[in-house]
Amino acid sequence: MIEPANSRVAPRVGIGRQSRMRLQDRTWREVEDYLGTSRAIIIPSGSTEQHGPIGVIGTDSICAESIAGAVGDSVGALVAPVISFSPAPFNLSFPGTISIPEDVFAALVREIIRSLHSQGFASFYFLNGHGANLRPLHAIDVSALENARIRIRSWWEFPETMSLRQELYGDWEGMHATPSEISVTQAVGRVISADDAPESLVQPERLSQEFIRARAGDRHGPPDEHRARFPDGRVGSHSALACPDHGLELMKTAVTEIAEDFLGFAGPTLDGERRNGVST
Ligand code: NI
Repeated sequence: MIEPANSRVAPRVGIGRQSRMRLQDRTWREVEDYLGTSRAIIIPSGSTEQHGPIGVIGTDSICAESIAGAVGDSVGALVAPVISFSPAPFNLSFPGTISIPEDVFAALVREIIRSLHSQGFASFYFLNGHGANLRPLHAIDVSALENARIRIRSWWEFPETMSLRQELYGDWEGMHATPSEISVTQAVGRVISADDAPESLVQPERLSQEFIRARAGDRHGPPDEHRARFPDGRVGSHSALACPDHGLELMKTAVTEIAEDFLGFAGPTLDGERRNGVST
C-alpha cells in the first residue's frame, strides 16, 4: 500500500539524499577542479532486498547514501552513486530482492575504483549499509594502483552510534530489518505505518548470542529455508520500534563519528571550507 503524502516525513536537517556533494550533480570540469584539492571520495554501498513488513527494499542503500551524503556535506568530500546491487542470496524468496554473486560485486567495485583512480582519485572511503558486502569489500586489493588507499566502514559500527542503538532498542535491534536502519529511512523518506502491516507489531523471535555470532556478515541459509524460518523477513529485529525522530538522531550521531573517521583517513589534503560549495 502506498502511503498518503501526509505520512511522508521530509528531511528536516539538511541531511540525506539532497547532498551538495553528489558526484552525479557535478560536471566533469567541477570534478577536475575538485581533484586539484582532494583525491578522496566516499562510496556508499547498500543492497536491494526485503526489509520486513515495514522496511522498504532499498533500506540499506538509502541509509548508506543518506549518511554518506551528509558526511560529504560535512567534510566537503565528493560522494559517488550508491552501489545498490550486491549479494543478498538468502532473501531471494522475498519478492523485490535482487542479488548478485559476491565475485560479481567484487568485480564491480574493483572497476569503480579503477575508473576513479585513472582520473586521479586515490583515497576510497566505503560507507557500507549491508553486512554481506563486508567480506568482498575487505578482499579488494588496491596495491597495484599507485597511492591508492581504501577504508571500509559500516555506518552503524562507531561507538556512539552503537550505544545509541543499544539505548533505543536493546536486544530488539536484532539482525535484519533493524529498527535503527528503518528509522533512518523514515527520517529521509517513506514511513510505512505499523498499523498497515499488523505482522510488524508481533514480537519477533528473540535471537541467541550464538545465533547472532554465527550469522554475522549475513551468513544466512538458502532462500526457502530462510523465509520459512523468518516468514515476515525480520531477523530478530522489532522494526515497529522505528520512528523518524530516532532516524534523525541516529544519522546525526553517525555522521559526526564518520566525518571524524573520514578526516583521519583522507588527512591534511582535505580542506572542507574550500570544497564545500560547487566550484565556479
Ligand atoms: Ni539492512
